[in-house]
Amino acid sequence: MSKKTVFVTRRIPQPGLDLLKDFEMTMNPDDRVLAKQELIAGGKGKDAVLCLLTDPIDAEIMDALPTVKIFANYAVGFNNVDVDAATKRKIVITNTPGVLTDTTADFAWTLLMASGRRLAEADKYCRAGKYEGWGPMLFLGHDIHHKTLGIVGMGRIGQGMARRAQGFDMRILYTDEIRLPADKEKEFRVTFVSLEQVLKESDFVSLHVPLMPSTRHLIGKKELGMMKKTAVLVNTSRGPVVDEKALVEALRNKVIFAAGLDVYEDEPALAPGLAELDNVVIPPHIASATIDTRSKMATMAAGNIVAFFKGERPPNIVNPEVLG
Ligand code: DGY
Repeated sequence: MSKKTVFVTRRIPQPGLDLLKDFEMTMNPDDRVLAKQELIAGGKGKDAVLCLLTDPIDAEIMDALPTVKIFANYAVGFNNVDVDAATKRKIVITNTPGVLTDTTADFAWTLLMASGRRLAEADKYCRAGKYEGWGPMLFLGHDIHHKTLGIVGMGRIGQGMARRAQGFDMRILYTDEIRLPADKEKEFRVTFVSLEQVLKESDFVSLHVPLMPSTRHLIGKKELGMMKKTAVLVNTSRGPVVDEKALVEALRNKVIFAAGLDVYEDEPALAPGLAELDNVVIPPHIASATIDTRSKMATMAAGNIVAFFKGERPPNIVNPEVLG
């Protein structure tokens, strides 16, 4: 029997590629995002595509690649895929949930601390040779311990944030469309409130919602205006959840103290003025970027493809209705 064919849109860690050893695999040879036509050329005639969050998988791509039966997304977020279009065409979509929860929560915490304690700004100052000795007023930031953390979106990563906040003896507020069961609220020591209350009462606000029409610009000028002047905003979810232009204005005018962002509205572009601000930490979407986690994401994405062609239900299918 001829081997099934798979196209990998960009190099991923080796353990994932190793799993595809029984497939005829082709991979984008360059470490860069493919243009739409290049992705179509690469996926032509293939049975499966292993794609990334930077590949917009829309109806046009699906129609141009009628042989592809599964797009395995190398990310937990799948807002880059038109799942409805895939479901209509009976194409399976999978993602990589769970394996990056703790790594992403660790990193959201890194951003929270770096922003609250002005780490990036202080590091830049030392490197520029400006440090002339200890000073009582040098780089005063905000305490984290015993402050209030507001979590917007209490899924796996939001819960990871809450678990970590307990070590800092924080008061923890959260908001979500669905309230946690009482035993979980007790376990995480969290209090369910409205978004408005989270924004008004928190010293640190961390966003953990998926990008959907209802969460686009969830945090804009009005919401930033509700936050404390001393507050820090952390976003490791998806860029468009925050109105980045409004955030630049708010940071510039000291409406809030600082922000830590891993994701951007028009990634990889940054909103005009963002990079010039001292009170924002801006890494390049690396919250899940550890060797262990990226390897697990690779084996999970590849594993979904392997399971599908064995005739099994892929463990991380996001549109199970396709398989009936
Ligand atoms: C995801 O998986 O959705 C992250 O944004 C990248 O790891």
